Parts: sequence; C-alpha cells; structure tokens
Amino acid sequence: MTDRFDWVLHGATVFTQKGLASVDIGVTKGLIAKIGDIRPGLGAVEDTLTGLTVLPGVVDTQVHFREPGAEQKEDLATGTAAAAMGGVTAIFDMPNTKPTTTTPEALADKVARGKGRAWVDYAFYFGATAENAERLAEWENLPGCCGIKIFMGSSTGTLLVDDQAALEAIFRSGKRRIAVHAEDETRLKSRFALVADGAPVAMHPVWRDEEAATIAVKRLIDLARRSGRKAHVLHVTSAGEMELLRDKPENLSVEVTPQHLTLAAPDAYDRLGSLAQMNPPIRDARHRDALWAALKSGIVSCIGSDHAPHTREEKAQPYPKSPSGMPGVQTYVPIMLDHVNAGRLGLGDFVRLSSSNPAAMFGMEKRGQVAEGYRADFTIVDMGAKRVITDDWIASRCGWTPFAGTEVTGWPVITAVGGRVVMREDTLIGTPRGEPVTFA
Ligand code: DOR
Repeated sequence: MTDRFDWVLHGATVFTQKGLASVDIGVTKGLIAKIGDIRPGLGAVEDTLTGLTVLPGVVDTQVHFREPGAEQKEDLATGTAAAAMGGVTAIFDMPNTKPTTTTPEALADKVARGKGRAWVDYAFYFGATAENAERLAEWENLPGCCGIKIFMGSSTGTLLVDDQAALEAIFRSGKRRIAVHAEDETRLKSRFALVADGAPVAMHPVWRDEEAATIAVKRLIDLARRSGRKAHVLHVTSAGEMELLRDKPENLSVEVTPQHLTLAAPDAYDRLGSLAQMNPPIRDARHRDALWAALKSGIVSCIGSDHAPHTREEKAQPYPKSPSGMPGVQTYVPIMLDHVNAGRLGLGDFVRLSSSNPAAMFGMEKRGQVAEGYRADFTIVDMGAKRVITDDWIASRCGWTPFAGTEVTGWPVITAVGGRVVMREDTLIGTPRGEPVTFA
C-alpha cells in the first residue's frame, strides 16, 4: 500500500540536512514522514509552493511577553500571534514578569496560560535568585522550562544577581543552560549620574557603556570556564565583548539580536528617539561591524530578538524615565532574510543561527532540521519578495516596530507548527493551539 499523508508540500526548495534541494515533504501526525518525490494525490491536504523556500522552524530564544503583570504591553496571545506572523515557530519567554518566574507555581501558571491562547510553541526561563539557587537543580526540569536566566545587571523588572557567591551557587545547581544578561551592575549604578537628571536618549550607550558589558562578560567567561556549566551570553553588543569571546569555552554560547546587527548610533537615536532605547544599548557602527565579523568567524551561536515591547505612551516619557526595550519577534525573519539577500550571511548561516543551533543548544526534541522523524515546524519564505515593514502589520499589542518604513527583500509566507499552518500570507489561520516545547 502506498503511504498517504496528512499534508504534502510540493514544489518548494527545501533546506534539508544536505543543503537546498527540490523535494516534496509528506507530513503525518505533526511529524515529517517523508522527504523525496511524492506523487500528487497522496495528501489529505496538498500545497504547491513553487518559488518558496522551506526552512526549519525559527526558534526565538529570547522574548519578553509580559504576562502576567504587564499585559498592556503584550500577553501570550498577542506575543505568539506576532511570532506566527513573523515566521517564528517557537519562543522562549523571559522571567521578568510580575510575579517573576522564580517559583514552580509561577512557572506552572505561565504554562497553563499558554493553553488555547498561544499560536506557536513556547517555553519559559526560570529566573535565578540568591534565594532559589539551591532549588534550581530540581526546578529546572519542570515541564515548559527551557533553562535558567540571570540578570547580572538590572534592566526592566526586579530580577538581579550580581553577588559572586550567589552566582557561583546558581552555576553549581543543576545542568540546564543558563542565559545571562551581562552588564555590570556596579558600573551601571556609578555612571547613572550621567543621565539621572534628564539627558538626550543618545546618552544611553554612554551611560551603559562598552566597559559595563565587558566587565560582566569577563566574569561570565570565568564562571563558565571554571564550572563547565552550559551558559549563554545574551545580546552581545560590543567589539570588546567579541574580543573576549574569541577565546570562550565551548560550553558558553553567544547571542546577537537583529537590531544590534542592523541599527547604529547616532542615526537610530536621531530617527527613533526612545524607541531605539534598549539594554544593552544600540551602539555605533564600529560595534555593529564587530558583531558581523564575530558572526562570520563563528563566535556567534544564535540570533534572539529580545522582543521587549512597551507602549508608545510609556516610551514617550522623557529619558531616562522611558523604559528600555523594543519589539522584535515579528521582524526577526524579514530583517535577517534581507541581510541574507544583501550577502552579509548565507542562508545556511541563518538556518544554523535561527533554528538548528538553538534546538541543539537547549536540547529541544525533534526540532531544528527538516528531516524525516523531526517535527513539521516550518518557516516558509519567499526569498525574492520585496516588502515594506509597517506598524499596521505588527500583531504585537504595542503596535509599533523600530523597523517601520524599512524595505526588505525576503518575507515569511507560511508558518507551520507541528504540521498545522498557523499563518499564511500575513493572516493567522485556525485557532491558537501552541504547546509547551519538550526537551530531551
Ligand atoms: O531593553 C531591555 N528590555 N533589556 C532587557 O534586558 C529587558 C527588556 C525588558 O524586559 O523590557
């Protein structure tokens, strides 16, 4: 008997484990059942995707979806809708919510809130504190947990660990990857006087300078090296950090964001004002160039958006009262595909940094490849589509993007999660049925 499939994708170019190939994909029960020639008529649903490229589902390993506690900015429904609209199939949400995700109850509450409301799959970081350090080894394996998060420098919210003994205790407790916001709290505090009484927002990278980042990254490299613990430095922004990370231990992974690869001071602050304000800051072009050089030389492990929405009203407060953070989950794929088309990275680099590496680094089950036996999570793109990013297209509750007005080449056309199409041509499809990500 000939195999039949729930869904057959015909005619696309597919990014397989061997690179790009013109093959059909047969999907059954949410998994990839066959890659190869599949004759028409064997699928309950069939799509002909001539001219499109099927990539393994993009995983955004750093978003702030604000639920519970700040739903005026975003919640799990609107944040995951933005993800689906932007071609992202799974997200890892940060613990600086209210209450913070620092207890099993808070984690279970977030997992439950996703049910029937999330458009894509989801997992949550467990926030580390001096108080919960000893319990993390036990709690890090709770359902829906992707790893541990430490804020070494304070940003939005109340989570902060900069005491050395507490950091050491956290690194000793458990095995999962520890993602770190690396800015030095002491330096941030001592330099805050530069902006405290009001200043142009272009002073943001002067206050939170390169040295604040390098001090913390040096400390993190040392912790990772001595402990052997899997760690992850989030949103690296400076040449100095990349210089230090050239000799990083294997167990330390490195993230950059699309916005730090794309925007630069002073232009970003001139054009966008506080909409360009985030932690760590957008810096000048020398630093942006250093991020690209590090990406090319293989130091960078993944791209995360650090999607951190705030309302326009909140952002309109005078600096430094204006909160730090910008949305990014929905613009991640188009902005990076535009860089691919401009020749700044290869499509294979994009796949590695957006899908296969995140899946491997965090131990996600059956994700990160278009291969038989893997989940049918697809980011299906039109590499040649020219589009202008607009605020109207943004599904995030904040309703704005720092990339409004930017023309890009390359656009996500279909998002499929577990064999279900959740977005097609800028429209959400069906109902939100995202599930907690499972880990090996
Ligand atoms: O700019 C930022 N905003 N950086 C962070 O680390 C936190 C984030 C937020 O939650 O708003």
